[in-house]
Amino acid sequence: SSTMVNRDFLTLKDFKPEEIEQLLWTAKDLKTRIRDNKELFQPLKGKSIAMLFQKKSTRTRLSTEMGMTLLGGHASFLSPDDIHLGVSESIEDTGRVLSRFADLLFGRVYGQSDLDVLAAEATVPVINGLSDQYHPLQILADFVTLQEYYGYLHGLKLAWVGDGNNIVHSLMMGCGKLGMELRVATPKGYEPDGQVIKDATKLSAQSGSTLHLTHDPMEAVYRADVIITDTWVSMGQEEEKLIRLRDFAGYQVNRKMVKEAASDWTFLHCLPRKQEEVTDDIFYDKKSLVWEEAENRKWTVMAVMLHLLMEYKPTILKPKL
Ligand code: CP
Ligand code: NVA
Repeated sequence: SSTMVNRDFLTLKDFKPEEIEQLLWTAKDLKTRIRDNKELFQPLKGKSIAMLFQKKSTRTRLSTEMGMTLLGGHASFLSPDDIHLGVSESIEDTGRVLSRFADLLFGRVYGQSDLDVLAAEATVPVINGLSDQYHPLQILADFVTLQEYYGYLHGLKLAWVGDGNNIVHSLMMGCGKLGMELRVATPKGYEPDGQVIKDATKLSAQSGSTLHLTHDPMEAVYRADVIITDTWVSMGQEEEKLIRLRDFAGYQVNRKMVKEAASDWTFLHCLPRKQEEVTDDIFYDKKSLVWEEAENRKWTVMAVMLHLLMEYKPTILKPKL
């Protein structure tokens, strides 16, 4: 079987379906052992992670710091104000130096290529904590959340209503790998990246599922099990806010839209949430899984850190995926 030890976690595209399933299984296992059974389990004692953040974060930072602590290791958070990176030291040199201190590197960046450069120079694994292109950690948490609610993943119908951004790019890869049907509705001009569409379409065909793109939100949500959205204004796009609010008219997830979905619909949002993209009555509905989804960021990033550093066999039975 394949190992994930010493690999970079930059995009789900690089991972086989069975590897992604392994990460979801381990996440659920850690949640069971550490949260439910209150077990002290510290396989990463003495290990450390250096976290480089070019952008703000609540969940990604805290889930990784606290997850690393739970596993017995140490996390160092480095904001752009703290280190020389980007000011008086190159990303290449920073990657080489941090590799001498830490067992893992973690980056939240603008360009995905910054992560590629970091990974090329680093001698330890690099984890993507969000770039303009991808947010793979978020999708692992989304999948654990849906597995817990529905009891399976394969065959679920997901609908994305919103921007063709980093989150939907990773969702497209993840659904293609694990065989979930995905319909993506974006306004004209906000479609997902062309190469990501190509890659995800191929993956969907391989797993016997489908990826469908549309400009009609109602078509996307029709009989969907899960409705997913995100902010219309991602970090770094603040200046486009007024244009975007205008262009995304009709894309707000609301009661009328949800009526088109399957009767046992659920709602996901990576957070932080703004009011434009989803009404309060949906966001705070019982069927909105956003709080479980946020919590699962912790158990999933723990699974990723663990598997990049050592072999691990879960103690619980593999969940149906
Ligand atoms: N979902 C997510 O990545 O949230 P943060 O920006 O708070 O890390
Ligand atoms: N698309 C959002 C996600 C935040 C977690 C952004 O990139 O800002």
